[in-house]
Amino acid sequence: MLNVAIKAARRAGNIINRASLNSERIQVTRKQHNDFVTEVDQAAESAIIDTLKDAFPDHGFLAEEGGEIQGTRLEGQPSHVWIIDPLDGTTNFIHSFPHYAVSIALAVDGVTQQAVIYDPNRDELFTATRGAGAYANNRRLRVAGRLRMSEALIGTGFPYREDQDVDAYLEIFAKMTRQCAGLRRPGAAALDLAYVAAGRLDAFFEQGLKPWDMAAGALLITEAGGLVGNYAGEESYLNTGEIMAGNPRLFAQLVTQLRSHSQA
Ligand code: IPD
Ligand code: CA
Ligand code: CA
Repeated sequence: MLNVAIKAARRAGNIINRASLNSERIQVTRKQHNDFVTEVDQAAESAIIDTLKDAFPDHGFLAEEGGEIQGTRLEGQPSHVWIIDPLDGTTNFIHSFPHYAVSIALAVDGVTQQAVIYDPNRDELFTATRGAGAYANNRRLRVAGRLRMSEALIGTGFPYREDQDVDAYLEIFAKMTRQCAGLRRPGAAALDLAYVAAGRLDAFFEQGLKPWDMAAGALLITEAGGLVGNYAGEESYLNTGEIMAGNPRLFAQLVTQLRSHSQA
């Protein structure tokens, strides 16, 4: 199953790379304030779903641009659901800021089992299978070992939609920026989470995310020895959209800092 997901992600990556050669010609549509979609997001999503559907006709799909497409299983919900962000970091992509990725996860009975995140700019493929570790281009990943907040480089995402509470976020920002070695807002949550798995970021936190921003990255992190939860350290991040991740020692310190800000 992982191999089919890799094939799908690479196909999407090729579409994205080809389009980026002519970036001034990309058609951009505004979904809502500060939330954009391009024809490339849609073409990449179709390529992924077509590839997966060919191999697994009765699986379900939860994909950013198409919403939910039920599988053809007769009795109720499909047990296998692919959770897809065909282009995570669309705003970066539109601006030729080279930090965006394809994200594909497979959940079986609600538990993520497979993960693929593909960065077409660096031709870097992050993969994980539950219980079998996380890899980047076949190199085994481990989360970073830094134990102190004062040494940690931490990734985050700024609120940007009208329905998000900027003031509440700024309180967290003020607290964190004084305590850690650096805060970064790279702009592609799925790839940012892959960077935690790879030890390039020591930790990450963001709120207002969707399952397709988090599912694959979260499995990469746990398979690389890290922890993932909401701001209170609890497991319910996929449905609440509030996520925090890092190595176990930093995770515990983040819970202390962020627990009172949890809206989950
Ligand atoms: C967005 C990116 C961004 C995050 C947003 C997401 P998109 O995904 O992951 O970093 O801050 O919340 O919606 O729309 O580019 O796929
Ligand atoms: Ca996304
Ligand atoms: Ca997207």
